[in-house]
Amino acid sequence: MITFDDVELRHDGRIVLSGVSGTIASGSLTALTGPNGSGKTTLLRAIAGLHPLSGGRIVRHGLEPADIALLAQGSQLDRSFPIACRDVVALAAPRVGPFRQIGRDQLAAATAALSRTGLDGMDRRPVQALSAGQFQRLLFARTIVRDARLILLDEPFTAVDAASTQLLLSVVHEWHAQGRTVIAVLHDMDMVRRHFPHTLLLAGQTAQWDADTGIQAA
Ligand SMILES: Nc1ncnc2c1ncn2[C@@H]1O[C@H](COP(=O)(O)OP(=O)(O)O)[C@@H](O)[C@H]1O
Ligand SMILES: [Mg+2]
Repeated sequence: MITFDDVELRHDGRIVLSGVSGTIASGSLTALTGPNGSGKTTLLRAIAGLHPLSGGRIVRHGLEPADIALLAQGSQLDRSFPIACRDVVALAAPRVGPFRQIGRDQLAAATAALSRTGLDGMDRRPVQALSAGQFQRLLFARTIVRDARLILLDEPFTAVDAASTQLLLSVVHEWHAQGRTVIAVLHDMDMVRRHFPHTLLLAGQTAQWDADTGIQAA
């Protein structure tokens, strides 16, 4: 569970959000919505511990930083570097042992995640060779191998074609079924209604939980 207690967030001293209080239940699936500039990315980064709070607090009950995965908006890896898809994914997997090397387990997890995201057989393909939709699938594959308990997705379906979106939505549902907590920034209200039991709507510097979007809580 994540608890927000009178959270205030600023950029360059200017208030973006204030008075945000509420909870995200453990294992819940929440859509974070609101107009451009309403603070969705800032709030997601604050939940991940990447943006400082100027007021209030966010309590991440029992979550360590390693338990949190953020798929950032418009994520860019350095795509000019000639690295194979499997290696890019394997690098995101948790590593153990004294040297924290990538081993058989990480490579196997990467191959499985590539397959799950429809990138079968792409293990040795250089990242530069991917289309935009394939690249987003790769970012999902990286998020899968993170094996995080809290998954934060910032506009994960932007610039993704319909077929890729359906596939990646099924991954989101699988995470939910596995009991992971998922928060996704989305603009497609039809998708929100169909697939997301909870909503967090940002508007006018504040947040509304499960606002009237015609959503049935699951
Ligand atoms: N790096 C930054 N520096 C200064 N202001 C920023 C920065 N990032 C975002 N902002 C401002 O903070 C507000 C919220 O931005 P953001 O969280 O990106 O909104 P959203 O993701 O909902 O579009 C906007 O007014 C935006 O202009
Ligand atoms: Mg944003």
